[in-house]
Amino acid sequence: AVVVHRRMKKSGKWVKAMEIVKDFEIKCSTPISRLRQVCDAMIVEMHAGLASEGGSKLKMLISYVDSLPTGKEKGLFYALDLGGTNFRVLRLQLGGKGHGILNQQFVEVSIPPSLMTGDSSDALFDFIVAKLAKFIAQEGLDFKTTPGRQRELGFTFSFPVVQTSIASGTLLKWTKGFSINEAVGRDVVAELTKAMERHGLDMRVSALVNDTVGTLAGGRFANKDVVAAVILGTGSNAAYVERASAIPKWHGPLPRSGEMVINMEWGNFKSAHLPLSEYDLEMDADSLNPGDQIYEKVMSGMYLGEIVRRVLSWLAQEAAFFGDTVPPKLKVPFILGTPAISAMHQDTTPDLKVVTNHIKDIFEISNTSLKMRKVIVQICSIVATRGARLSAAGVLSILRKMGRDTIKEGEKHRTVIAMDGGLYEHYTKYRKCLENCLNELLGKDVFETIVLELSSDGSGIGAAILAASHSKYLGSDDD
Ligand code: GLC
Repeated sequence: AVVVHRRMKKSGKWVKAMEIVKDFEIKCSTPISRLRQVCDAMIVEMHAGLASEGGSKLKMLISYVDSLPTGKEKGLFYALDLGGTNFRVLRLQLGGKGHGILNQQFVEVSIPPSLMTGDSSDALFDFIVAKLAKFIAQEGLDFKTTPGRQRELGFTFSFPVVQTSIASGTLLKWTKGFSINEAVGRDVVAELTKAMERHGLDMRVSALVNDTVGTLAGGRFANKDVVAAVILGTGSNAAYVERASAIPKWHGPLPRSGEMVINMEWGNFKSAHLPLSEYDLEMDADSLNPGDQIYEKVMSGMYLGEIVRRVLSWLAQEAAFFGDTVPPKLKVPFILGTPAISAMHQDTTPDLKVVTNHIKDIFEISNTSLKMRKVIVQICSIVATRGARLSAAGVLSILRKMGRDTIKEGEKHRTVIAMDGGLYEHYTKYRKCLENCLNELLGKDVFETIVLELSSDGSGIGAAILAASHSKYLGSDDD
């Protein structure tokens, strides 16, 4: 065991612990004035990213989705959704105009960690395709294929990809928990297609989309007021509908709709205005992608628990917070997940039993006092509050870029943002804090025109729908 170097007196330890927590709180503070600076900086980067390829840390990737679902899409389509610790495969029977989704099924498979950071992308794609093939083999009679028609797939691949068409694109870099070097720079659809050929699976990828773009498409299919999507899950990102004429780096033909969906890859945003503590900097330095995805690292599900763990570990070491030795489990990176943060932060039992149990189960620390547990809750709250408020600043940036942050005379519109990701869905305090902050930033009148709408698993559904609208056959009623 690591022995805490100074054997402090009990009261001295407590004073030291409070100092550390206070200092952390100050470094994480997000007053409205600072959030406005973050928002201004993000808008500058949005413009730069749209102006030229590589013009900004914000990639502002062109999705090649220039028309969103209309509700007339029809037929049987598949989707494969890869991007977190699990992947999903699903099939969707679309009924055409007025009928919506007639039937849907999915399976979820967790990805062996060794495949996420291995050195072979074939191994990852082979694993995925094997599961996909099995799922297709189980297609029941309640799903209608057309004889002679190849099955089509929408591929949700939630990493930064420079697309070369609606169904091709090269991986720029991995994010979140993934890192397979040889895949970087390759066309991910070609890689998937080769794996399907190796498995004798006859299927065509007709759309390649980011999860934000899939969520936007799925959201629009259900609600015509949806104009943007935000993911708050393992990672964080957003997509929105941009005017094609406002994208200088787009040299293709002007789409008929005049619009283009942009995948911002906002997770990679970075600015001197982002409140960062030494715990964040150290976590970044130790990460799979140091220097990258800084905005994502202060607000998404993969990292919130890890930041809290680092603070607790420092408290143990410097203030003997958990006694004279540092409990060894406190030193294990990523041992504290965001679901645990959420559960502890939202503990409503008078003696904070949920905190007691989590600290015992995860860190094998069983002697916490109520006073200590209150400090732990406070640290969870500091981390979640900063994350939620910074994500509100991101949402404000999109609204401002789209001109939806004010109410124009004589114009009455509702702006709906499709939201997805486990963090948003399950961490109620985070979600509420984001909403309250957006209200504060926009003012009540404008806030009332904005709807954040949970669109669970919208990314897979949206990909299948985009596969329909980009089908090589008749994929919709008005084709
Ligand atoms: C990461 C990925 C991005 C994805 C987001 C949410 O930021 O780079 O493509 O949309 O996670 O899954």
